[in-house]
Amino acid sequence: MYTHPVPDDFAAQRDYLDKLELTLTGIAQKDPPYSDGPIKFDGFRPDVRDLGLDWPTTAFSMVGRKRLHNFRRLIERVIRSEIPGDIIETGVWRGGASILARAVLKAWNVTDRRIIVADSFQGLPPPNAEIWPLDRDSDLHVYPELAISLEQVRANFESFGLLDEQVVFLKGWFRDTMPTVPSTCLSIIRLDGDMYESTIDPLTHLYDRLSPGGWVIVDDYFMIPACKAAVHDFIGELAGEGLAVVLISSELPEVMGLADRLIVMKEGRIVDEFQRGRWSAEAIVGAATGARKEAA
Ligand SMILES: C[S@@+](CC[C@H](N)C(=O)[O-])C[C@H]1O[C@@H](n2cnc3c(N)ncnc32)[C@H](O)[C@@H]1O
Repeated sequence: MYTHPVPDDFAAQRDYLDKLELTLTGIAQKDPPYSDGPIKFDGFRPDVRDLGLDWPTTAFSMVGRKRLHNFRRLIERVIRSEIPGDIIETGVWRGGASILARAVLKAWNVTDRRIIVADSFQGLPPPNAEIWPLDRDSDLHVYPELAISLEQVRANFESFGLLDEQVVFLKGWFRDTMPTVPSTCLSIIRLDGDMYESTIDPLTHLYDRLSPGGWVIVDDYFMIPACKAAVHDFIGELAGEGLAVVLISSELPEVMGLADRLIVMKEGRIVDEFQRGRWSAEAIVGAATGARKEAA
């Protein structure tokens, strides 16, 4: 239920945040992508930038308009439903997503939450394959384009008039800084570190500080398999501690790999249920598509 009051000038604030999304992602300026990034596109493509698939040359966020908008919607949700806690982004690059987060707090007249902006401010770490074997092939540490200094990120906040005491910077490698995050209560944890290590370290140290009803956003979940694996391993750890985890997914390998009990839904209704060891991919797909029932 939403209890937080809607600002009097809500329409103007919504318009401001819409425009900010377009500017932060470089869509408004048609900012071209880096030509030597790992994924190459020729010139500015609004469809590519919408999905956050390229690295903008000068714009403030590489996550694209859709993921930025999703972040905004979740911030508005925790504000409106009064889920307590600060908001942290781990992996900020030029700061764009965190700048939007600060702007959302301002638009909603929120003064009792902070945006924690965590980064090395010197790019990604080289892979430490002995400890984190799934980072073995990561070469993102070699890109100078990913190393943005703290001074530059502060200046980026300032250029939008959004640098104040509600923005807290945390500089250093996540393995060192996550245990020292200056907040015991978080409403949103936005992970965007692009590596197994950079995903599991924040999850391990921050998840316990998440308020009930809060959100963890894993920016790299569908793009970087090592980050997805980190989330799966973390879920495994929670289950190992005896916690019940509800996973909603349409990816068969994911649910078959993680679940102990599987409930199949079709068109909003429960159509079947399986226990681990008593299922097959064929039976699950059959239930989800209706073929199993027809055959019975
Ligand atoms: C993909 S960029 C983040 C994009 C950003 N969220 C945006 O809105 O455009 C990844 C960032 O994570 C940081 N990073 C990755 N792993 C890290 C680690 N282990 N410790 C500290 N910073 C890390 C890098 O310095 C880089 O700024």
